[in-house]
Amino acid sequence: MPTIIYIEHNGTKHEIDVRSGNSVMEGAIKHNIPGIDADCGGACACATCHVYVDPEWFEKTGGPSVMEESMLDFAQDVEPTSRLSCQIRVSDDLDGLIVRLPENQH
Ligand code: FES
Repeated sequence: MPTIIYIEHNGTKHEIDVRSGNSVMEGAIKHNIPGIDADCGGACACATCHVYVDPEWFEKTGGPSVMEESMLDFAQDVEPTSRLSCQIRVSDDLDGLIVRLPENQH
């Protein structure tokens, strides 16, 4: 199972095995990682699952879709590697993916 590394804003690191096909958001919610709210349950309609993809990984995850990009407008402190984690599908290719969590989800 691919391992996803979630780093909280305070630096706390969580290495979590996430089943392929699940989203990066689902992996966090199932393991009670603080810092991802996911109010809409993964429908790309809330922007409270905002994460920063590690720049080294951004080519592999790819950038946001047009719909995701318009939702990201509602997130705070958006950066060039910002993504909505419900829209990143876990696969073997993403084994070792590092995402950083923002200070707040709004
Ligand atoms: Fe709502 Fe990702 S969980 S946009």
